[in-house]
Amino acid sequence: MERLQKVIANSGYCSRRKAEELISSGKVKVNGIIIDCLGTCVDKNDTITILGKPLEVEKKEYILLNKPRGVITTTSDEKNRQTVLDLIETDKRLYPVGRLDYDTTGALLLTNDGELANLLMHPKNKIEKLYIVKVEGFVSKDILTKLSNGVYIDNFKTAKAKVRLKKFDKKSNTSLIEIIIHEGKNHQVKKMFEAVGYRVLKLKREKIAFLDVQNLKSGEYRYLSLKEVKKLYAEVKS
Ligand code: URA
Repeated sequence: MERLQKVIANSGYCSRRKAEELISSGKVKVNGIIIDCLGTCVDKNDTITILGKPLEVEKKEYILLNKPRGVITTTSDEKNRQTVLDLIETDKRLYPVGRLDYDTTGALLLTNDGELANLLMHPKNKIEKLYIVKVEGFVSKDILTKLSNGVYIDNFKTAKAKVRLKKFDKKSNTSLIEIIIHEGKNHQVKKMFEAVGYRVLKLKREKIAFLDVQNLKSGEYRYLSLKEVKKLYAEVKS
């Protein structure tokens, strides 16, 4: 037995939050009866309908996108800005796994597999994300140690991170830092650097778990192989 909102989200119909809204507003029926209570559990034999149509399970799709700057990571935007979904040709209802800021580039997964998306985003599964950060000024060893031990952002101490200086460019007075974190708070990397007195000039996510975007140009995407999907499941369940 699983919660109704989870079954709807996992089918690829919509996000879990949207599924909760549909349930609460009385748009979902189970075996012909309106269910507007979020705690309800269902099983495979139950017939679910949404707005009168039977819930169908979509074929699962998994995409790795190299997100360009100037694109937002939501499914729609009231200001009519370009979204990551505008870059992808698909007839499936895909959702971004987590978020990258408007000006952040790099690895972004999109899928209609709600189960895997939730597992990847859940902090307990500690999925590593590797970022390359460009900041103004030289970043000393002391600062790198502070970042790696955790810093306070919004009254929350970040977990241990792997941090190293990749390059310092004297001419432009900028440093390139590699940081690997497994949390995903809003604007986490920028806030971590702010906490130690640095302004992020550029931010790129190069890798999520074992998936990198080195072979993808900005704005390009590719489908994950079955082997990669299985490996992701193995990582979140290990
Ligand atoms: N951390 C940030 O500050 N921004 C992102 O887009 C991703 C991680």
